[in-house]
Amino acid sequence: MIQKPRGTMDILPKESKKWQFIEKVARDVCRKHGFGEIRFPTFEETQLFKRGVGDTTDVVQKEMYTFTDRDGTSYTLRPEGTACVARSVIENGLSGDTMPLKLFYIINCFRHERPQAGRYREFYQFGAELFGATTPSADTELICLADDFLKGIGINNTTLHVNSIGCPECRPQYKSALVEYFSGRQDELCDTCKSRLHSNPLRILDCKSPICSAIAKDAPKTIDHLCDACKEHFEGLKARLNVSGIDYEIDCNIVRGLDYYSRTVFEFISEGIGSQSTVCGGGRYDGLVEQIGGPKLAGIGFAAGINRLILTMENGSSYVEDDGGADIYIAPLGEAASVKANEICAFLRKKDIVCDTDLVGRSLKAQMKYANKINAKNTLIIGDGELENGKAQLRNMLNGEQTEVSLSDLEAIYDIIK
Ligand code: HAM
Repeated sequence: MIQKPRGTMDILPKESKKWQFIEKVARDVCRKHGFGEIRFPTFEETQLFKRGVGDTTDVVQKEMYTFTDRDGTSYTLRPEGTACVARSVIENGLSGDTMPLKLFYIINCFRHERPQAGRYREFYQFGAELFGATTPSADTELICLADDFLKGIGINNTTLHVNSIGCPECRPQYKSALVEYFSGRQDELCDTCKSRLHSNPLRILDCKSPICSAIAKDAPKTIDHLCDACKEHFEGLKARLNVSGIDYEIDCNIVRGLDYYSRTVFEFISEGIGSQSTVCGGGRYDGLVEQIGGPKLAGIGFAAGINRLILTMENGSSYVEDDGGADIYIAPLGEAASVKANEICAFLRKKDIVCDTDLVGRSLKAQMKYANKINAKNTLIIGDGELENGKAQLRNMLNGEQTEVSLSDLEAIYDIIK
């Protein structure tokens, strides 16, 4: 028996309703905030992620699905969207448009991680990217967009964690301070952190190993090492978050796993869905566009993991499942009645009515059972007698009322059930 690849999922109709709901809220919120949708390829040149996401990151070192195409080019299934959007902005000359440029996407991503609850090898993100604005006001607007979205899908149990990781001006000194601190306790660090000590010491701060995180508690804090410009930016962001009604906490261990970030980084963390609790993460990436060969163009964005949002919603969000039953089930008995049923369905669907009818030749009893199963709000039985008289009984399944309708006056049937 062929099975789906490890870490992937099938999303069946009952479940996909939740996905559609999340996607609809995402689109609505983006429209309100003036973000337009961007769609881009599922795979890109491997070089894009090496240069954009960063050579020393786990994503690039261990998690990419990379393959060599027939012409020898190395491609990678996108592990995230930001580098792809930045590539598209450069390639399509959007950096010359009126700024800011606001884009959103809903995509599948691929990372070869060890699967567990909330962590998959193919997963889905709703992301938003804002280019061409360096102000703390842009950071605030972007965070508000993420917050509006989470509240829009009924998730109220997340905490916003915010940090600033500085810029190329002040980060080298901070990195040296970290290397000095962690070198003193090098022997206690896990193997991964030992290997990161010189290449990417910031990542030790968000290591999940209990020993590393205990050591990280007393490590030098980024916000004590910011240059004046970064400090001012961070103060500007806090002042705006304070008046925007979004609760947040400063969390110096939020460093994010991707190399392109500078200054603001943030995560929305959900209670009660286990260790994979970051439902949304993002930050500023003022150097990314240049890094991959484009002009100097600041950016800030986030991505929310839709799989994790679904887990959080199952954990008590206000989402109420819509039963979405058919408006009418038409039960024909025999060939001529079946032709009539097709005619009525085609007529009613043009008017946006959800219709269903028999496609497999069931008995009347089995058809009524089926109508119940699909939660049909009305049924119309058409047998030989009804065809002869040109009349049938339309039954309202919610209150049991029956109305005689003329089979030649479909408009009247529509008027009753609309
Ligand atoms: P990220 O933190 O790698 O950031 O991913 C964003 C979100 O995607 C995570 O918070 C999580 O909810 C979800 N996610 C990540 N990996 C997995 C996985 N293996 N299984 C399930 N869900 C997962 C980025 O991707 C950045 N591009 C975000 C960004 C946009 N920064 C600026 N703009």
